[in-house]
Amino acid sequence: MAFDIEMIKKVYANVAKRVDKAREVVGKPLTLSEKILYSHLWDGNPTKAFVRGKDYVDFAPDRIACQDATAQMALLQFMQAGKPKVAVPTTVHCDHLIQAKQGAAQDLKRANDVSSEVFDFLASVSNKYGIGFWKPGAGIIHQVVLENYAFPGGMMIGTDSHTVNAGGLGMVAIGVGGADAVDVMAGMAWELKFPKLIGVKLTGKLSGWTSAKDVILKVAGILTVKGGTGCILEYFGPGAKNLSCTGKGTICNMGAEIGATTSTFGYDNSMERYLRATDRADVADAANQVKEYLTADPEVYENPEQYFDQLIEIDLDTLRPHLNGPFTPDLATPVGELGEKAKANGWPIKVDWGLIGSCTNSSYEDLTRAASIAKQAVDKKIKAKSDFGINPGSEQIRFTAERDGILKIFEDLDATVFTNACGPCIGQWDRSDLKGDEKNTIVHSFNRNFSKRADGNPNTHAFVGSPEMVAAIAISGRLDFDPMNDTLINENGDYVKLDEPRGIELPPLGFDVEDAGYVEPVSDGSGVQVSVSPTSERLQLLTPFEPIGNEIKGAKLLIKAFGKCTTDHISMAGPWLRFRGHLDNISNNCLIGAVNAFGKKTNFVKNQLTGEYGGVPDVQRAYKAEGIKTIVVGDHNYGEGSSREHAAMEPRHLGVAAVIVKSFARIHETNLKKQGMLGLTFANENDYDLILEDDTFNFLDLNEFAPGKQLTLEVVHSDGNKDIIKLNHTYNHSQIEWFKEGSALNLIKKENAS
Ligand code: F3S
Repeated sequence: MAFDIEMIKKVYANVAKRVDKAREVVGKPLTLSEKILYSHLWDGNPTKAFVRGKDYVDFAPDRIACQDATAQMALLQFMQAGKPKVAVPTTVHCDHLIQAKQGAAQDLKRANDVSSEVFDFLASVSNKYGIGFWKPGAGIIHQVVLENYAFPGGMMIGTDSHTVNAGGLGMVAIGVGGADAVDVMAGMAWELKFPKLIGVKLTGKLSGWTSAKDVILKVAGILTVKGGTGCILEYFGPGAKNLSCTGKGTICNMGAEIGATTSTFGYDNSMERYLRATDRADVADAANQVKEYLTADPEVYENPEQYFDQLIEIDLDTLRPHLNGPFTPDLATPVGELGEKAKANGWPIKVDWGLIGSCTNSSYEDLTRAASIAKQAVDKKIKAKSDFGINPGSEQIRFTAERDGILKIFEDLDATVFTNACGPCIGQWDRSDLKGDEKNTIVHSFNRNFSKRADGNPNTHAFVGSPEMVAAIAISGRLDFDPMNDTLINENGDYVKLDEPRGIELPPLGFDVEDAGYVEPVSDGSGVQVSVSPTSERLQLLTPFEPIGNEIKGAKLLIKAFGKCTTDHISMAGPWLRFRGHLDNISNNCLIGAVNAFGKKTNFVKNQLTGEYGGVPDVQRAYKAEGIKTIVVGDHNYGEGSSREHAAMEPRHLGVAAVIVKSFARIHETNLKKQGMLGLTFANENDYDLILEDDTFNFLDLNEFAPGKQLTLEVVHSDGNKDIIKLNHTYNHSQIEWFKEGSALNLIKKENAS
């Protein structure tokens, strides 16, 4: 049902020719990452060596995966493209919108009530446009992708930062914003800056309490949260071969926490075992035919320092289990040293919750290793001191774990088994054990532990560890517990020690599931109706943007943003997530986090029509009502942060014509272009200082808008004085067409129709 063996065979049929050609043009042996990148060039033909960290390159991904929160706007946009079907195999996974509270059955029912209109919308759009749909409760996107779609040597993009998880099965899998996914769905190329490469050589073999999670916890400690930015981490060496496929997935998953573009491993026996265990013997057979193209050339791993931009070595024999946190995933501390550190920093030692699962750590191996610890607590009569919560990664994992008695072990410890969904990992956790924002500690096997991430409480100190370490710490109820050396006192008053965890890589009886939760789209979706209620608060069908046109005269300043202005400042998350599928409603958060250079307040700007001050969206709506265009002025690196397209769509929807800044974060700049707006930079960045609160703007030569040609802006001050300033831009010919047509999607639609 789920995967597309014909597509995979096609990728493998081309790989030898493309990689051999790439090796020729690059002129040296290739890493695995390069093989995957060069064999997925948009035009299919490597003709030049790209400069890592510099060249922007068009790629043709094999697959797309979207989660429910981000899929809403992505699919609303795709509907604008006028295509009968998605151009690339795509799936939608309902996992983010399910709150953990009482346990799977009740929680899933409640989510289906609360978010039914969103789920129904996603189901019907998926059905109409040939998209595979995974129902609420089917599982977490990345676990489901690993079980069903990931394949060695493939390239995928996904509208979630942990899409990188699929690197565990030898993919180059990258998290993107909805706008990028829409392009690829609509048959366009996907652009990426050719990444730099960090080699991670693993030697030795994991043993005892140390797990695959500890590899990435260690790497995060070395590289920090920014150290992987713009890079692919390629893991190799004898230690890599000794890891399970799902362990590799865990390592790749948390590559997102160090900012890496993605992470990957070469094809090996562990991947073959996993493919066969997950009912994909045909993929394994096909991969075996092109094995040498699914791993780096041998010379690369012999002399890695010659082929990678940076090299890290980790010896798994000596690696110690870690707990990372609180508040940042790169604060790595070996277990055993945490107690002292916690005391010195005033972190609560008492642990209130141990949470196991998430897309990072919910494999069969993870659950069996954690269960082997949990079972000891029951057998050795140790009462768990913390509460336990489990989020299985998929229905297949849950069903198999239940069949094999694994869930029962946790239930014997009074664990709550939540829905196969993100739950506490994304703050979807109705936690009832705290009275207010009390200072407290939790441990979990997830990936992120930023302030408020799990429960919205800024005083929750969250530590990230392996599932088995989380189980041990939760049983002890103490952050300073070191299961390798410490003992616990059981109900009989005896001192007992926990034995090392024991896991089973793959279920001996095979995976099993009754209803995986997958809905195959109909082959002809032309008759499928997508219904969105016009009174819905959460969903709104999009109407194509009108072109802004060449005549931008008399435009007013909406806001001159001061200092950092990220996509979070432009389109806040938190409670606004609810409106992700409703452009007009979510536009009420437009730029409310940006600091106004005049007065240094947020969400407080002057309405030049009335002279009064108000919130940014309100003032902008007032200008729009009068048919007055506006501009936004910004500082350096405007629009950095997440790639969410809402940050470009909202100002566009509200009537902002141009964003003029000292410099852009590139993805946001592209998003502005895609929405048919002007994203421009000051030719002389000091001109930022010329802009005053009551200014009016006239574009003097927009009718000559052309690649590489500066634009001229007349700034009319309230005292009648004028400044003429030059603006730079990076629009190419087709991007200028996007501007002329009103948006990239308008252009696609027009081309479709002709
Ligand atoms: Fe979901 Fe958390 Fe993964 S939000 S996709 S389980 S990182």
